[in-house]
Amino acid sequence: MSMALSFDDEGRGEPLLLLHAFPFDRRFWSEVAPLFAKGGLRVIAPDLMGFGKSPAKGPWSIADQAEAVSALLPSLGITKATVLGLSMGGYVALALIHNHPEQVEAMVLAHTKAAADSPQALQGRANAINTVQEKGVAAFADGMMEKLLAPNASPSVRDHTRSLMNQPKETVLAALAALRDRPDRRRELSNIRVPTLVLSGEHDAIATPDEGREIAAAVPSGAFVQIPGVGHLSNLEAPDKFVSAVFDFCETSAP
Ligand code: MLT
Repeated sequence: MSMALSFDDEGRGEPLLLLHAFPFDRRFWSEVAPLFAKGGLRVIAPDLMGFGKSPAKGPWSIADQAEAVSALLPSLGITKATVLGLSMGGYVALALIHNHPEQVEAMVLAHTKAAADSPQALQGRANAINTVQEKGVAAFADGMMEKLLAPNASPSVRDHTRSLMNQPKETVLAALAALRDRPDRRRELSNIRVPTLVLSGEHDAIATPDEGREIAAAVPSGAFVQIPGVGHLSNLEAPDKFVSAVFDFCETSAP
């Protein structure tokens, strides 16, 4: 399954592809995309299938999302991009580099995991699907907020984050199933041939710094950076730190 994606295309320079988390869309990047563009990058930020302005009926898989992204790049004249995926976007980035390594110049895996869902996470997915079906997306999003941000996140960051979590019910249900069914990619990490930055948040309860360190250790040219004081969404909680970490990496990994 593959379909055309809606996207923003901003700036000029080496292409940086931004893959958003769940349950967000490309508005997720509205603080950091202009900073990347100002710093000399061409920033491509799609709405993944079903999110934002990229309508899609489920079911779809994380690998289907990677195929849609893979098809987007050549349509923009881009042969290879630095791919930055955050959480669900990181799962899509790992599927993309596995299936289309020739399209990836370098990779940033932020707040993400290579392992499949644990038994406890699978139970959480089942509960989440029930909540969405019985109480709706808003109740699910309210519940998810508790896990997303560092305990000391400001009210304005909280309000802004919550305001971005308004995806269609069908998309949220399709995504929860796709997240639940994604494969364990840990054994593939040693095949990654491009410079890879793994970014974790000090207080991230969804993708812990320990999991981030393990990914960085398993990728042959992997680097690890922990952003202090943030939870799962450092692009929203500390945009300047997030952007600096990516630029530092781009400078050290430039060919
Ligand atoms: C995300 O932030 O994209 C999700 O928390 C990912 C997940 O639930 O596995």
